[in-house]
Amino acid sequence: MVRKKRRQIFNLQSRSLVSMNNPKSMIAEQYRTIRTNIEFASIDCEIKTIVITSAEPGDGKSTTAANLAIVFAQQGKRVLLIDSDLRKPTAHYTFKVDNKVGLTNVLTKQYAFSEAITVTEDSKLYLLPSGPIPPNPSEMLGSEGMKNLLEEAKEQFDVILLETPPILAVTDAQVLSNLAEGAIFVVNSGKTEVDKAKKAKEQLVNTKVKLLGAVLNNKKQKDNQYYYGGKQLS
Ligand SMILES: Nc1ncnc2c1ncn2[C@@H]1O[C@H](COP(=O)(O)OP(=O)(O)OP(=O)(O)O)[C@@H](O)[C@H]1O
Ligand SMILES: [Mg+2]
Repeated sequence: MVRKKRRQIFNLQSRSLVSMNNPKSMIAEQYRTIRTNIEFASIDCEIKTIVITSAEPGDGKSTTAANLAIVFAQQGKRVLLIDSDLRKPTAHYTFKVDNKVGLTNVLTKQYAFSEAITVTEDSKLYLLPSGPIPPNPSEMLGSEGMKNLLEEAKEQFDVILLETPPILAVTDAQVLSNLAEGAIFVVNSGKTEVDKAKKAKEQLVNTKVKLLGAVLNNKKQKDNQYYYGGKQLS
C-alpha cells in the first residue's frame, strides 16, 4: 500500500516538461504549433481563458496544459495556469509548488486571488494550484466567485489555461466551459474511442465555449512524423 502510494507520487513528480527541458525538440515544436493555432483562432475575438479537457482520465490534459503554458510563457506572454481539476489536481507536483493555498481557498474567500497565485521557475508563468480538495467541486467551479476570479485574471494575464477533469466523468469541464472563451480537446491516440470522443465533443459544443480544436496526444512516431499533432475538429 505504502509502496504504491510512493510510486504514484514519484510518477507525478517526475512528469517531464519537454517544452521546458528540451525546447528544441520536435515535441516542443509541436506544442508551439498548437500555440500558433490557438492564436489564429483568436484573431476575430480575443480568447484569453482556455479550458483543456478530454473524454476520459489519463488522456494527457495535464501534460498538454503544462506544456502549452510553458510555450506561451516562452513567447513572452504572461500566463496563468489554473488547476481547476479539483478531483485529481497535479499541477502543483508538476511545477513543484506548494498546494496548501490555491483556487478553493480563493473561492471560499479565505485568500485573495493575488495571494494564492504563485510564480514558477519561469518568471512569466504563474500557477494557481487547486488548493485543498473540496466536497463540492462542480458547485465551486460554477459559482459567481469563479466568474469573478476569471475576470480578475483576465485583467492581469494574457493567457489563462484551465485544467479540468474528464468531461464524460463529471460536469466540471462543462461548467467551466460556460465561463471560458475557448476549449482544447485532448484525444489520446489509439485509446480514446471514436464514440466517446464524439460524445465528449457534443457536450463541449453544447456549452458557450468556442471549441478551438483537438490535440492528438500520444501519437506513435513514424518516419517524417511527430509525436503530437494539432488537428481541427470537424
Ligand atoms: N504524449 C505523452 N507521452 C508520454 N507520456 C505521456 C504523454 N501524455 C501523457 N503522458 C503521461 O500519461 C500520464 C497521464 O497524463 P496526464 O496526467 O497529462 O493525463 P490527464 O488527462 O491529465 O489525466 P487525469 O484525467 O487523470 O487528470 C502521465 O503520467 C503523463 O506523464
Ligand atoms: Mg490531469
